[in-house]
Amino acid sequence: MKPYLLLIVILVSGIYTGNARENGKIAPGYLRCEYKVDPLGIDVTSPRLSWELHSDQKNQYQSAYQVMVASSIEKLNNDEADLWDTGKVASALTNQLPYSGRELLSRQDCYWKVRVWNADDEVSAWSEPAYWSMGLMRYADWSGTWITHRTGVNNKDKYKELYLPPARYFRKSFALDKKVKKARAYFTSAGIFELRLNGKKVGQDHFAPGWTDYDKRIYYVTYDITDQLVRGENVVGAVVADGWYAGYIGFALLIRNERVREFYGVDPAVYGQVEVEYEDGSREIIATDQSWQASQGPVREADILMGESYDARMEMPGWDRPGYDAETWKQSRPSFPPEGKLEAYPTEPVRHIEEIQPLSIAEPEKGVYIFDLGKNFAGVVRLKTEGKRGQKITLRYGEMLHDNGTLMTENLRKARATDYYTLKGGGVEEWTPKFTYHGFRYVEISGLTERPGKDAVTGIVMNSPTPQTSTFRAGNEMNNTLYENILTTQFANFFEVPTDCPQRDERLGWTGDAQIYVRSAAYNADVASFFTKWLADLDDAQRSYGAYPNYAPFPYSRADQFSPGWMDAGIIVPHTLYEMYGDTRIIEIMYAGMKKFMEFQLEASEGYIRPPGGMNFGDWLAVGQQVSDGFVAAAYFAHDARLMSEMAGAIGNEEDAGYYAQLFEHIKKAFVEKYIGEDGIITNDDTETAYALALCFDLYPEHLAARGAARLASMIRNNGDVFSTGFLGTKHVMLALSENGYSDLAYDLFMQTKYPSWGYSIKNGSTSIWERWNSYTREDGFGGGGGNNARMNSFSHYSFGAVAEWMFRYGLGIETEGAGFRNIIIRPQVSARMKAMQGSYRSINGKISSGWQIKGNTLRMDIEIPVNTKAKVYIPAFGKNNIRVDGRPLRKADGLTILSEEPGYTVLQAGSGKYVFTCE
Ligand code: BGC
Repeated sequence: MKPYLLLIVILVSGIYTGNARENGKIAPGYLRCEYKVDPLGIDVTSPRLSWELHSDQKNQYQSAYQVMVASSIEKLNNDEADLWDTGKVASALTNQLPYSGRELLSRQDCYWKVRVWNADDEVSAWSEPAYWSMGLMRYADWSGTWITHRTGVNNKDKYKELYLPPARYFRKSFALDKKVKKARAYFTSAGIFELRLNGKKVGQDHFAPGWTDYDKRIYYVTYDITDQLVRGENVVGAVVADGWYAGYIGFALLIRNERVREFYGVDPAVYGQVEVEYEDGSREIIATDQSWQASQGPVREADILMGESYDARMEMPGWDRPGYDAETWKQSRPSFPPEGKLEAYPTEPVRHIEEIQPLSIAEPEKGVYIFDLGKNFAGVVRLKTEGKRGQKITLRYGEMLHDNGTLMTENLRKARATDYYTLKGGGVEEWTPKFTYHGFRYVEISGLTERPGKDAVTGIVMNSPTPQTSTFRAGNEMNNTLYENILTTQFANFFEVPTDCPQRDERLGWTGDAQIYVRSAAYNADVASFFTKWLADLDDAQRSYGAYPNYAPFPYSRADQFSPGWMDAGIIVPHTLYEMYGDTRIIEIMYAGMKKFMEFQLEASEGYIRPPGGMNFGDWLAVGQQVSDGFVAAAYFAHDARLMSEMAGAIGNEEDAGYYAQLFEHIKKAFVEKYIGEDGIITNDDTETAYALALCFDLYPEHLAARGAARLASMIRNNGDVFSTGFLGTKHVMLALSENGYSDLAYDLFMQTKYPSWGYSIKNGSTSIWERWNSYTREDGFGGGGGNNARMNSFSHYSFGAVAEWMFRYGLGIETEGAGFRNIIIRPQVSARMKAMQGSYRSINGKISSGWQIKGNTLRMDIEIPVNTKAKVYIPAFGKNNIRVDGRPLRKADGLTILSEEPGYTVLQAGSGKYVFTCE
């Protein structure tokens, strides 16, 4: 072979497998600890490890693995696994492997690698090394005190005027006189903070340490600052703003809640320490205490909901660098710590994810410029401008424009969503707010002296990093737009908690929205650690009597605190994490609370029927029909019991598994008696949502399910092939139709463009998922949404995007058999109308692809099954049902087993690899 050809072959095979390999057959990569790549500051005592496998051969699996964990990279490279060496373990496990080596103490560095044996017992090369470090495990590891700085007193009339105090600045100068080997910063705050070191931001986080019920737990974040320290004088600084701790949250102002801000405390405070390890082994800790100096600075207002105001004239150049004269700074004051336990931040804090340039600038009124950023996202803008000292620029944000081109802000309700920048003068100035964010597509700028160019504004997309795991394309362009809109809206709302919407005075972790969407979310992105964090919020928010509340965290409550269909998130979300990632630890963490919730429901029940209770949001925003509150409550209670039984079994609690299975049967029996007639009709609740929930939750007696499904289908047909459902019903209608033989109708709904449908919003210009199908219409503008409902018209509300679950489970047919996608089902529902669909899901075991295409008399399916998994592939009956695999007749294909030839499908068992099936 010519040398350059050989090189190409090596390169191509290297790219394909993504890693170094010895025998060319199987290679481990993408090593993670607690779902994160090389995380710092883990405080779980036995962190779980995972890896992905790649191979260019079919039918490959892992027959054994070996993991080595060492305290230094040198040791790891020498195979000195001083922390843990599993030896060769005969096992197919590639994730959820709990570390079980030497006890891990605070600050421990853990370097690790893995190698695996393939189907033929041949060993791979070692993976690239990966890393995690332990956080501060004991309270005694912390040396400092909490410090704060008073900036004034709130004596405003709370409903009439906003109180927006300035951010607090803290600084500490310290000297290092020896060579530094390693340095870490561990910090948290009551409020949100930015850590500074020698003039630079530390890390890439924003809004750390996030939002929790600070009276129950408060997170710290860990940074590697080794390279940012110098010999001699160093300065560490922190800028701290109110954040969720002391700032405005949600609709408290709107509902004239007794408290509108300061839900957890009044004065933001900071706490943490810089830890330095010298080359000579000695250590030093610089912790927050009263020797830190405090001041105010240019950030004059800093509220997540209301906006930020920055006066560049008040900048203090060099305040976070050595050599600064801090004479005017005050001594910081001690502060009471929040009550909550200090824990390591369990997922990734919010980041700047992407920058976008404006598409256009309009001037609807003299001197008022509107920049169109082209998509509806959560984040901020970077302003670049020039002008006179003292000139004040105003930035307002909106999702939509009025017909006359002005900014639409009615739907922001009490969220001021306005930022101000006061120029210092003397050249080009750039500014990006740090302690606020907005949900918007348009930014309106006023106060400029000249017409701005496009470079005056850069959009900065922000969210909690949840790497995308899906791809999707369909034969119908509208549905491709729908998929893009779903992603846009998911990412705009996965911001520290799964918010309902990012723009108006809400942004709460609504439980109903989360439960209906979580499965869709998990197809689209790796949300394992994101939802693990939110479940801690939900667990903390559980009411003393057992109900999970309407949103979590739960800073304030209205009289009624829970609602059927919302509170069930406490069962459904953990179950989904189990199902998608094979995660049993989350079940263990949530278990006591979940049991209590089940008891709460059982106690309220009469003859196993759980009555309505709490807020009863019902099938929120249903169009046309409303299922009864009682039906929703009873159906979800049954569903919870079934999921509980499965989860109890997953953690080996057979007794509870049996108990909840039986509870489900009791509820089902009572439910059938109460709701389902002998003809399969739900007489008292003859609504689409009622049939959909009963069918999806397995509440139909087997012999009547077909009747229920037929009734559901005919109701929709009689309704002109459109829904009459809301947040709870819509997705379940899609799932119920596809599950019960009406996939053509599901496709008709999916491709529909009449009101109400996804296509209808898209026809009316949507680039995101709207709260209502008609939040805006070309004919009626913003008035369409249920009369004059412009105020409850979010243009970034993911709930109706829950159809993504149907797209992946039924359209592409990518499903797991049991938990965690070790055994996969590929069972697409093909449609002559749609003609083609193609997509993929990067599961915890690697990428699964499924695509189908109908061309003339041929159905073609392109499938990819990851290494170390097996799939049952359902080939839909088509034409004369003459099936070929990779061009060869099915019966002659190696490595495939025909499991059954059911009516409608031929079912095969396939190992890993790529396959092309044709059927004609
Ligand atoms: C939120 C929802 C939420 C609902 C409860 C709304 O204001 O935006 O998404 O689920 O209230 O009914």
